Amino acid sequence: MFRSPDLNRITLKGKRIFDNGRFANSPNRFRAVFGDFFMAKTTGNARLQQARRNKKDEFYTQLSDIEEELKHYRNFFNGKTVFCNCDDPYESNFFKYFALNFNALGLKKLIATCYSASPVMGRELPLFDRMNGKKAYKIEITEVIDANNDGAVDLSDVEYLIKNGKNTLSVLKENGDFRSAECVELLKQADIVVTNPPFSLFREYVTQLIEYNKKFIIIGNKNSITYKEIFKLIKENRLWLGYRNINKDMWLILPDDEQNFEKIEHGKKIKHIMACWLTNIETTKRYEEVILYKKYTPEEYPKYYNYDAINVNKVADIPADYDGVMGVPITFLDKYNPNQFEILGMDDHRLKYPNWRGRGPDLNGKPIYRRIIIQRKKS
Ligand SMILES: C[S@@+](CC[C@H](N)C(=O)[O-])C[C@H]1O[C@@H](n2cnc3c(N)ncnc32)[C@H](O)[C@@H]1O
Repeated sequence: MFRSPDLNRITLKGKRIFDNGRFANSPNRFRAVFGDFFMAKTTGNARLQQARRNKKDEFYTQLSDIEEELKHYRNFFNGKTVFCNCDDPYESNFFKYFALNFNALGLKKLIATCYSASPVMGRELPLFDRMNGKKAYKIEITEVIDANNDGAVDLSDVEYLIKNGKNTLSVLKENGDFRSAECVELLKQADIVVTNPPFSLFREYVTQLIEYNKKFIIIGNKNSITYKEIFKLIKENRLWLGYRNINKDMWLILPDDEQNFEKIEHGKKIKHIMACWLTNIETTKRYEEVILYKKYTPEEYPKYYNYDAINVNKVADIPADYDGVMGVPITFLDKYNPNQFEILGMDDHRLKYPNWRGRGPDLNGKPIYRRIIIQRKKS
């Protein structure tokens, strides 16, 4: 192929196919000549994009963060089947937490499935060497005993049990995608799903849990709260924040070959991520009253220019004596008690809360940070 220096003419085997800014022959001829090349490039790009997206989803929750949150739900788990559906058993501390606490929690069953497109999947666990490369698999645990008689119940016991006992390790027919038919069948068996799912598929992930009417305790990006689909569930009291304070960011573990890390702790690269816990299991936190002490004054709480509500800059400053509509920061959700407040909407035109007249609340003509629109419930 020859390309003229001014890029205006391309010839292939002596024939002009691009001349003076136009295809010399029909577009079909162009497609016939270059079709495969572009197809290959597109598929290559798509693959690259997918790989990048996969890589972005690749960070792992620390055991201490899981313990800190899950200690509040201990009574919930008795007799339950737990499904960790985005969890390579070796990499995942969710799997580790439930395997190690299997008896203490009184679990009936623990299932974990692993996604074959994960860049780190099955890399380290010697147990899976015989599987020859990356295959999606599932682990089902129904009994955890100190099988190797070393006095402790640890992961080596689980490995031992998988090899020898009632517990099973099997290769999945599909790729372990949480949406695949096999994984959905496992989901149907589960009472509760507990994991940190891929942030890039968060909407779909939660939608599926709701569709199958599952209980869940999951980690999500803080921004996910503002997604239309997720906020709707929060507003309808079908999903709420867990115990961890929304302002306390999480330090998540990155794959060993990741360069974009912030520090190394216990030999692991970690990075802080704006993440929070989301659940639909009742929490005591959710019914704690926010103590309100401020008095309303029109000076301190101006009305928005484009919405009939007052602006409140800090949750602690919600006036105790104001019965009208208020805009509060997103961190309000950490203190949201459905007996005390009603959520009316978000500063989002798509949610169409009553009397909407603009795109976002603004104060004296200036847009402000996102606000959740609430009203105190009449006592
Ligand atoms: C944020 S990481 C968390 C991993 C693990 N749950 C934890 O908390 O340590 C999300 C995981 O989901 C996996 N994943 C990505 N897409 C998936 C899909 N469609 N189905 C199942 N898992 C997926 C990724 O490979 C990644 O390991």
